[in-house]
Amino acid sequence: MGEAIVRARYQTTPRLGRLLRVVPVILLLAACSGSGPQTALEPEGPIARDIDGVWDLVLMLATFVFVLVMGLLVWAMWRYRERPGDETEPKQLHGSSVIEVGGVVFSVVLLAFISVPTVRGLLDIRAVPEGDDVLHIQVTGHQWWWEFEYVDETAADGRTLITANELHIPEDVPVYLTMTSADVIHSFWVPVLNGKRDVVPGRVTNLTLIADNPTPPDEPIPGQCAEFCGLAHADMRIKVHVHDAAGYAAWVDEQLLPSEQPAPETALDAGWQTFNTLCTACHQVTLEDVEGEVTTHGPERYITSDDIEFRSSFGPNLTHLFSRDTFGSGTFTLDADHLAEWIDNPESLKPMWADRNDLANGRVLGMPDLGLSSAQIEEVVDLLETWR
Ligand code: CUA
Repeated sequence: MGEAIVRARYQTTPRLGRLLRVVPVILLLAACSGSGPQTALEPEGPIARDIDGVWDLVLMLATFVFVLVMGLLVWAMWRYRERPGDETEPKQLHGSSVIEVGGVVFSVVLLAFISVPTVRGLLDIRAVPEGDDVLHIQVTGHQWWWEFEYVDETAADGRTLITANELHIPEDVPVYLTMTSADVIHSFWVPVLNGKRDVVPGRVTNLTLIADNPTPPDEPIPGQCAEFCGLAHADMRIKVHVHDAAGYAAWVDEQLLPSEQPAPETALDAGWQTFNTLCTACHQVTLEDVEGEVTTHGPERYITSDDIEFRSSFGPNLTHLFSRDTFGSGTFTLDADHLAEWIDNPESLKPMWADRNDLANGRVLGMPDLGLSSAQIEEVVDLLETWR
């Protein structure tokens, strides 16, 4: 028995040793992987650059301290190692005021040096941008999607621009987000533009985004809810499209126009009848009918946090739905097949709690299965595809 244990130990130890030797190699190779798209280390705007600058400085100083301390340790171990025949004790430094005071002063100076750019960065991040060019957007976090109301962008009839999940902003302009939550705590995080900011029910928090350059249309900047908020937290994504000034103005003009309501008794009208019976329980859409009348269909809902009124729709506004690249909070590529799959069985694509929906009490936790036939789904998707 004892012999068996000893043998087992002799067999496993070298294997463990080999395994431990592999760990640093794995860590080293991990550094070779290309950076992920959601990295705070490749900033695309001045505020994110501030944060990255503090990180670089701290990393540099921490590396210096690490090398210094480890170097001294290795040197002391080698210099004062036990030599055969030498029984004398090395000189003891315990209680040396030079070393103790020096250590404290060195640490204080180093921390003070780090604190200056850190505090300056914190103040910069919190600063409220001023000037005529600041773009104000109100953000409402929902389980599990983002609602954006461009309070500065209004149509002739007073409607504001409302969209979901895909944020469009102009380059080089401070975009001041005023945020709240319709349900639980979320966190708005687009790492290459700024740090995280909690989005809290009943309270208002702010965040400023400034982007250096326009993004290619098919490569928006990715972001993510960064506070665990339930089942579909991981699928509560954000896409930021950055435009030049003209491109942004064109996007706004287009979004402020109504989408088209099909003429009665046409092929698309069947889809509209289904949509207007079921989907408008949660989704708003602004449409122009054949007579030229513009109507916003669906529920109008607001919540108030810290005396500010926020849009708090039950589901994303679907006007110009097909001008977006994604749906399901930036999670799925938007195309007819994907959308049909979603309408047929939403929870097969994204985990939600639609069975807990309670519209009367303002509670919506996901897109329900509406029980439509495949013919009805096709008609609805055909209609939605015209809302570009
Ligand atoms: Cu919202 Cu996590």
